[in-house]
Amino acid sequence: MELFIDTANVKQIKEAVSWGVVDGVTTNPTKVAAEGRNFFELIKEICSIVNGPVSVEVISTNAEGMIDDAQKLAEIHENIVVKIPATIEGFKALKILSQKKIKTNLTLVFSPTQALLAAKANATYVSPFIGRLDDIGHIGMELVKQVRTIYDNYCFKTKIIASAIRHPIHVIDAALARADVCTMTYEIMKMLFYHPLTEKGLQGFLNDWEKVPGKEFLKSEK
Ligand code: E4P
Repeated sequence: MELFIDTANVKQIKEAVSWGVVDGVTTNPTKVAAEGRNFFELIKEICSIVNGPVSVEVISTNAEGMIDDAQKLAEIHENIVVKIPATIEGFKALKILSQKKIKTNLTLVFSPTQALLAAKANATYVSPFIGRLDDIGHIGMELVKQVRTIYDNYCFKTKIIASAIRHPIHVIDAALARADVCTMTYEIMKMLFYHPLTEKGLQGFLNDWEKVPGKEFLKSEK
C-alpha cells in the first residue's frame, strides 16, 4: 500500500519525506487555504519536494470550468493529479480529462456507485472519505471493502485512496481491505512509527551498553 501525506504544509511534507515513507501528497482547498500562501508557488514547491503524485482540487462547479481548471493545474507539474468532486458535472469532466490523459482523483466519494462510475470513466484514483462516514455513524471502511470487490470483479485499474483517515487503526484496516493508497495527516503518519515498547526496549539496551568494555568503538561523532 502506498502512503500519501494529506497536507499542503511544506514543512510537514519535507519532514515526512525525510522519513522515507511518503509516496505522494493529497491536498484540498481547505488545506491550501490554511497555508495562506500564493497558490501557484505553493503547489510548485510541493511538487519539487515529493517525487510522486500530488493531488490538487479544481474549484469550478460546472464541467467546462473544471476541465479548464484541470488543464491549468496539470501544466504546473507532470506529477499533478487533478481532484474532481463526485458530482454529475464532475463525472462529465472526468470522462473528458481521462481522454485527454490528465491524471484524476475523484474526491468526496461516499458510495460504491460513485466509485463504480469513477472506474468506468477511467479515473486514475478514487477517494472514499472513511472518517467522514464514521463521523455520521456509518462504518466508512466498509466502503473501501465494497469498492475493492467491485474493482477486482471487473479488473478496473482505478486506484483506491483510503481518505479522511482519523487514526492508525484506519491505516491498518485500509491495508487489510487492500486499498491501493492510504492518505493521512502528518500527525497520523508520525504515529505509525511509535510504540512504547520500542522506546522502553531501546532505553534498556542503551543502559546495558554502558557496561560493555570497549564501548567507545561505536561512539559516533555525528
Ligand atoms: C483527501 O484527499 C482529503 O484531503 C481528506 O482526506 C479530507 O479529510 P478530512 O475529513 O480530514 O478533511
